[in-house]
Amino acid sequence: MSSKTTINITLTNLLLHLLCIFSITTSTQQDHPPIPKPWPLQFHSKLFMNYSGSLSLIDLWYDWPGGRNFNIIQDQLDQEPFYDLEWNNGTSFFYTLHGPQRSCRTAQLEVGILRPDWLDGATYLGEERVNGFHCNVWEKADFITYYEDVVTKRPVHWVFYTGRSAHVMTFEVGAVLEDAKWQAPVYCFEGKVEAAGRSGGIESVTADGEDLKNGEERRGLGGLMGF
Ligand SMILES: *[C@@H]1O[C@H](CO)[C@@H](O)[C@H](O)[C@H]1NC(C)=O
Ligand SMILES: *[C@@H]1O[C@H](CO)[C@@H](O)[C@H](O)[C@H]1NC(C)=O
Repeated sequence: MSSKTTINITLTNLLLHLLCIFSITTSTQQDHPPIPKPWPLQFHSKLFMNYSGSLSLIDLWYDWPGGRNFNIIQDQLDQEPFYDLEWNNGTSFFYTLHGPQRSCRTAQLEVGILRPDWLDGATYLGEERVNGFHCNVWEKADFITYYEDVVTKRPVHWVFYTGRSAHVMTFEVGAVLEDAKWQAPVYCFEGKVEAAGRSGGIESVTADGEDLKNGEERRGLGGLMGF
């Protein structure tokens, strides 16, 4: 055998091996559908929300190491944002900061904030084009449908079973809100259901009740899935 033939045989062997490895990899991919990427430990995201045509913008600050999660909610053309501050010990503060209507309400829930791997065990539904992005789609516990960009693995969109939907407009991995901003206002610690302003009153409490439900929906993710 010439040395050239030997090299050819070796190359053929190598190719066969590579082919073999390739086919194993391909079949593994088919047997195991894609899984959602866990959330980064800390991020800031701007969300465009739509609930049956009621629109809002949410600044979401997720901070797992800090044990805290913040939703700053601006309803369309509403006077000021509504703050939904959640701690991992189950305490939530729902408040507004300015004006005669400023108010605060606290709630004690049995679940903490979402874990970074909260999408574990989601059911893969396939691929879909959403908001112009090519996405993998999962459903978790009949509660949420979650769309993630196939290439960048960033969340693009999610829809709660209620129809409330989020479109992810920015996703800044590693962004952390300064500590001072996580301080609930002093009137949150003055009573259970408390309207702080002199003329606070029933209306603001009612308005809070509405938003409290929204907060529970977000938190309910944890409750329903038992983590
Ligand atoms: C909001 O959602 C409703 C369906 O609930 C849809 O008809 C409407 O076009 C959406 N609006 C925007 C601005 O996305
Ligand atoms: C949970 O943590 C927050 C922030 O440290 C605190 O204000 C709140 O009182 C705590 N709740 C409980 C039940 O310990």
